[in-house]
Amino acid sequence: MEGDGKVTPQLMMAVGTAVIGSLQFGYNTGVINAPQNIIESFYNETWSSRFSEPIPQTTLTALWSLSVAIFSVGGMFGSFSVGLFVNQFGRKNSMLMANVLAFIAAVFMGFSQLAASYEMLIIGRFIVGLYSGLSTGFVPMYVEEISPTSLRGALGTLHQLGVVIGILMAQIFGIESLMGNASLWPLLLGFTFLPAVLQCILLPLCPESPRYLLINCNEESKARSSETDTHTHTHTHTHTHTHITKHTIINNTTLARVKLVVMFTVLKDQPYAVYRYRSDLNWHQQLPERLINACSFDHTSCPAHQCVFPRHRCHMNCSLPVLVKLRGTDDVSEDMQEMREESQQMKREKKVTIAELFRSPMYRQPIFVAIMLQLSQQLSGINAVFYYSTGIFERAGVSQPVYATIGAGVVNTAFTVVSLFVVERMGRRPLHLIGLMGMAVSAIFLTVAMALLDQLKWMSYVSIAAIFSFVAFFEIGPGPIPWFIVAELFSQGPRPAAIAVAGFSNWSANFLVGMCFQYVEQLCGPYVFIIFTVLLLGFFVFTYFKVPETKGRTFDEIAAGFRQSSGRGSDKYSAAEEFSTLRGDDPDL
Ligand code: GLC
Repeated sequence: MEGDGKVTPQLMMAVGTAVIGSLQFGYNTGVINAPQNIIESFYNETWSSRFSEPIPQTTLTALWSLSVAIFSVGGMFGSFSVGLFVNQFGRKNSMLMANVLAFIAAVFMGFSQLAASYEMLIIGRFIVGLYSGLSTGFVPMYVEEISPTSLRGALGTLHQLGVVIGILMAQIFGIESLMGNASLWPLLLGFTFLPAVLQCILLPLCPESPRYLLINCNEESKARSSETDTHTHTHTHTHTHTHITKHTIINNTTLARVKLVVMFTVLKDQPYAVYRYRSDLNWHQQLPERLINACSFDHTSCPAHQCVFPRHRCHMNCSLPVLVKLRGTDDVSEDMQEMREESQQMKREKKVTIAELFRSPMYRQPIFVAIMLQLSQQLSGINAVFYYSTGIFERAGVSQPVYATIGAGVVNTAFTVVSLFVVERMGRRPLHLIGLMGMAVSAIFLTVAMALLDQLKWMSYVSIAAIFSFVAFFEIGPGPIPWFIVAELFSQGPRPAAIAVAGFSNWSANFLVGMCFQYVEQLCGPYVFIIFTVLLLGFFVFTYFKVPETKGRTFDEIAAGFRQSSGRGSDKYSAAEEFSTLRGDDPDL
């Protein structure tokens, strides 16, 4: 495909801006680790000044656990709500709107000390969790949708790169001499304000996902045009309106004279435009010039033959010019063709809700795979390291645990970059398998090192090496792949619901590990990582047998693979039709 695989400045700008959301997620994952003691002193002082007695240790522990874990609770809610936003407002606007949460959270956390209120800090953590949960849905979805097929894995990995850079920044800023001290910790937490400002400035310069513009807005406008039909029938005395078919030419003079409402519909499987003149509106003045230029309202030469304009709310963008810019070439016919095929398929699929994802035989298998992949990421034990590494290093006899933690952050970042470069060559499946097995072996080494520490002092070096390799293998596959592969496993219709379910599973497991690790560690002592080893081996077996390779395949091909394996391969649309029947819809609509 021409233009395929080309990294254009527009594409990089769009991906780079989106992953600011990932950076925020990573930053807030890592930020609470280093300044724990200092913030606990603040809790203590606040408590003392309110109740004239020091805070009981159990209350302090409970408040601290809440401050850490409520972030994942926010993440659970946020990730589950992704679908509410992306279809209604589009991918780009959803990302933009979510920043309101980042601003509010930054204010709550940044001013908690001034207001002598630990409640504000906890609420702020919850709100930034909401934001992060939304980001873990929005960002991979947007990035996957704007990427050419051959770069989807590499660009999808940039989400994880954003996360790990965020974690590393938080670890570095959290050093005592920087912001991890009694006077500057509010700034450390409030820092989240700055990336939010940056994203708000850059996002308006980025394109909306052309896939959303073509597929979703097309669907929407269909619905709207039938609404308007009804509307105009009942108001013919007030509105003059004319249908213009795809062969009608409207020149600019006409355009200047008439007042237009632009809508699009699909007739005989061909997207084409329906223009209506309405005397009561003056919308043509709102049409951006590039839209008028791009389409020139001349259907004999109009790109609208192969694209649709979205409804008014989508900024009157047009998927074709957006794609041309993203791909850096005029020949985007293959992309358009692929999206049109997906659009055709989606017409038969209808909208997919979360409940339907589980009911339909067509989606049951991919959603199961998606959930298991998310669980494999979190139940690998990675956040036991990122939340509690300082303590783990301490018990492993490391003299400078804070620096060892930063070391883990550096290894984490470095291996995400490695994954970025190999994911398109090696594919998702092998990397995920290598990652899981490598983590399992590293966890065994770590357990042995921790168990023998009392007899052999040098085992502390083995434990550092084991944790570093645990983290490195995580970033080879289980870190980045689950986040973006969900978007690949589903076509446009079920994608938002699937991403919400997958994100929710991820955040729930994250919460579970964050809450339980310390207690389980008290029970199991140095053998705690054996639990993760067993889980990792289980996920290895699952991945080997159940996870398909998605590299280089279009979204539609991947979905077709699942349809085939659910026994409906002979008839491409039979599952979809069965699904439509389930909903009482006409499958041929
Ligand atoms: C992934 C996980 C996140 C973890 C991070 C570590 O993004 O989702 O929970 O903290 O990797 O790099």
